[in-house]
Amino acid sequence: MRKWSRHRRALALFASVLLLSWNFCVASKPSSANPVPPLLLGAAWYPEQWPERRWNRDLALMEAANIRVARIGEFAWSRLEPAEGQYHLDWMERAIRDAERHHILIVIGTPTDAPPAWLTQKYPETLRVDAQGIRAQHGGRRQFSYSNPKYRELSRRIVRQLALRFGHDPDVIGWQIGNEYTDESFDAETQRMFQQWLQQRYKTLDALNANWTTAYWSQMYTNWNQIPLSAGPENPGLMLEHRHFVSDTWRSFQRNQIDAIRQYADPQQFITTNLGGLGWSANFDHYKISEDLDLASWDDYVGEGHLHPYRNGAMHDFVRGWKRKNFWVMEMQPGSVNWAPVNNSLDKGETRAMAWEAIGHGADAVLYWQWRDALNGQEEYHGAIVGPDGGPLPIYSEIQQIGREFALAAPVLQGTRPVSQVAILYTYDSRWAIDFQRHTRDYDQLQVLLDYYRPLRDLTQSVDIISADAPLDQYKLVVAPSLNVISQDLANHLRNYVRHGGHLVLGPRSGMKNGYDALNIERQPGPLAADLGGRVSQYYALENSVPVRGIWGQGRASIWAEPLSIHAKDVRVLLSYEKSNGWLDGHPAMVVQNFGKGKIAYLGTILDASLMHDAVQWMVAGAHVRPAFGAVPANVEVCRRERGNTQVFIFINHGELPVTIPLPSPMRNWLVAGPPVEALYLDPEGVAVVSEQASVTH
Ligand code: GAL
Repeated sequence: MRKWSRHRRALALFASVLLLSWNFCVASKPSSANPVPPLLLGAAWYPEQWPERRWNRDLALMEAANIRVARIGEFAWSRLEPAEGQYHLDWMERAIRDAERHHILIVIGTPTDAPPAWLTQKYPETLRVDAQGIRAQHGGRRQFSYSNPKYRELSRRIVRQLALRFGHDPDVIGWQIGNEYTDESFDAETQRMFQQWLQQRYKTLDALNANWTTAYWSQMYTNWNQIPLSAGPENPGLMLEHRHFVSDTWRSFQRNQIDAIRQYADPQQFITTNLGGLGWSANFDHYKISEDLDLASWDDYVGEGHLHPYRNGAMHDFVRGWKRKNFWVMEMQPGSVNWAPVNNSLDKGETRAMAWEAIGHGADAVLYWQWRDALNGQEEYHGAIVGPDGGPLPIYSEIQQIGREFALAAPVLQGTRPVSQVAILYTYDSRWAIDFQRHTRDYDQLQVLLDYYRPLRDLTQSVDIISADAPLDQYKLVVAPSLNVISQDLANHLRNYVRHGGHLVLGPRSGMKNGYDALNIERQPGPLAADLGGRVSQYYALENSVPVRGIWGQGRASIWAEPLSIHAKDVRVLLSYEKSNGWLDGHPAMVVQNFGKGKIAYLGTILDASLMHDAVQWMVAGAHVRPAFGAVPANVEVCRRERGNTQVFIFINHGELPVTIPLPSPMRNWLVAGPPVEALYLDPEGVAVVSEQASVTH
């Protein structure tokens, strides 16, 4: 027996030496790697869905459309491992080599978003359980449990195989872990993990009971194993910790695969994951997930309707904030989707405007989802670049144009990034805390954020959206629209920023909660009330708008109103409520106080657009923030990317009329041939990428 196992061990050793030396051969094969362009156009390509004889034609069409990167593999597990432990990677190798011949680089998506049927059949415990206790079935995707150890083991094995084979492939430039992490699991095993996680965090049940105020409704726990997973409107402390646990669990799900890749892969290959963006999905903390990644990336879909430049631009700025650096758009809709109530197409030219908006806000790559619809499967109706006949669809030429333009602008955009003097703070704790208890259905945090974003963007033309605990020194102005949860640590961080000269504006609902989602015992803004010299005396959900008046004249406030009381003599009142429900009448709605070398202001309500514009103008002027470019016609978006002294401006005309934009000095438009120009003429959906002549680098 023992002899046999020794024999087997020797065989296994021999096999792994063979595997490693084979891998070494692959790794050290003469590199014919295509250079990585600074701006990349790409598409999701699923070679496993098509006969191999078709690949060449697809790749030739991609090359002709100036596509330089394809993402492959993220739903191909059943083709990569058709039976447990039987790995079929040769087809992927052939697809990568074919792509290489067409100068197309590869990002490999690990296939863990869609487990094969054999896997879930043999290991049904890997299937996720929803909040109602129902176990998922095969036939869709995302049916796995993110915490299940067996699933993680099987994921690690397939990812390891991929990394062994392609970790040094010169045409593979990066990895995407899974695909759009979404659903958590509510199975008994995950619940036990949550309980252990809580135990580590709180150490004693007394601490947990105290911080969650479990004396309320007799929720007190006497054993860790009594604590449920949060699946509905339970205790806010439980809810917040469950979201933290979900974030940590996705992070360790991801870490499991990162480790498998990093063990074998060239450090030059980046690792990312494509996070979903629609509605600023908030299942878990995107900042936390991004910490372990080399690069942030997201999937940009409009769905029904048309590109909303502010909403979409803000989302880009937020993604840039996850790692505070440039990012990728890993998926973008080529015209239309298949999942909206009405799957209308973007107008002609709008897809191009959308791509350039992404670049303007700091994307270095835009990939379309998808190259071609599978002939069957759930997404037959989705927008694609070629049709079921394999020939170009009408959108093809627009995509081709984008790729051509990326190549034209790449030399000047290389190494550039947006740099802002203004930041909006957005934290998941506050997002979760307010969403859990909105108090009025009309309080839409994303809308409140956009109420600030829009005038800030118009007036400064460059805004970062970052976590509240990010470094703040570079910003002249920091606004926190709904910073509901302010722990002592966060308060110290913000106080330091102001003390050293920062201008901080807190918006409604700020500082109501502590880090356990419990009410702060100081009135809002909680630990910052003393620094403000004022505090919120009460909050009111409004049925109708109410009048306000102040240094910018009159206007209306709606949805939420917090009257403030003043506790220091030099606090300045900027706005007050006028007569409405009696409780608000005559009380301050916005105050400001000098603190250290800076200023701290509190605005306790939601202003109409015109008054908000005036208020933001006051914020911007007071903090001496300069616009990135200067005045532009209405509906024109301008973005600035910079590198050292080089400034590159991207203009996009989102309006319905042509516009002329005077330039402060003659500038080169990189998208068209010709000498520098003193003004730009842009048609609707028109785009220009300009820089001063001095920045011409090639
Ligand atoms: C994304 C997903 C893709 C595809 C796409 C369709 O959320 O990552 O795989 O399903 O939606 O719009």
